[in-house]
Amino acid sequence: MMNIAVLASGNGSNFQALASAVKRGYIRACVKLLVVDKEGAYARVRARRLKIKDIFIDPKRFRTRVDFDEALRKLLKAEKIDLVVLAGFMRILSPRFVRAFKNRIVNIHPALLPAFRGEHAIKRALTYGCTMTGVTVHFVDESVDHGPVILQGAVTIKAGTKLSDLEKKIHRLEHLLYPKAVKLFVEKKLHVKNRRVTIR
Ligand code: GRF
Repeated sequence: MMNIAVLASGNGSNFQALASAVKRGYIRACVKLLVVDKEGAYARVRARRLKIKDIFIDPKRFRTRVDFDEALRKLLKAEKIDLVVLAGFMRILSPRFVRAFKNRIVNIHPALLPAFRGEHAIKRALTYGCTMTGVTVHFVDESVDHGPVILQGAVTIKAGTKLSDLEKKIHRLEHLLYPKAVKLFVEKKLHVKNRRVTIR
């Protein structure tokens, strides 16, 4: 069975959605651990409820990002992790780490990439006046919010939509798409060639 590690910094609702999908047998894998870089991340409360091991790696303990990532890489290796799932993890991973887990790190972004890369993507799509935005699950490469696209889903924005409503819609879609993408990975159905991911 594949071992999954989820990396988060905050709320952890995507972590929860994945753990639930595993629990109900939709994904046949083991969520072995949650790693956070913020001591007070709410995701840890969820991990304890779910009886999943949670580990806080304090960035302040490391001089550089590369040192942090090396500690993370060692931990994931020791735990025999096959898939790294980024779920609101607010750190950029160094190229060396990404190479060590090539095509075995996935991320979720609350916009239709390549639109609105980076932070506050939901709000920026709304402010821009988009009539549509969405969610992207993708493999992680050496650039931020950039790797090969696995799944995307769209959300329409009607006139007068409030940010909080759009956020709710986006998160609901995330909680559907992320487990779906992870299931495909675990079942070895994702094949990456250049930027193209085929599902078979
Ligand atoms: C999600 O919107 C995700 O797309 C983005 O960070 C947010 C994390 O939310 N990368 P949560 O911590 O999973 O609730």
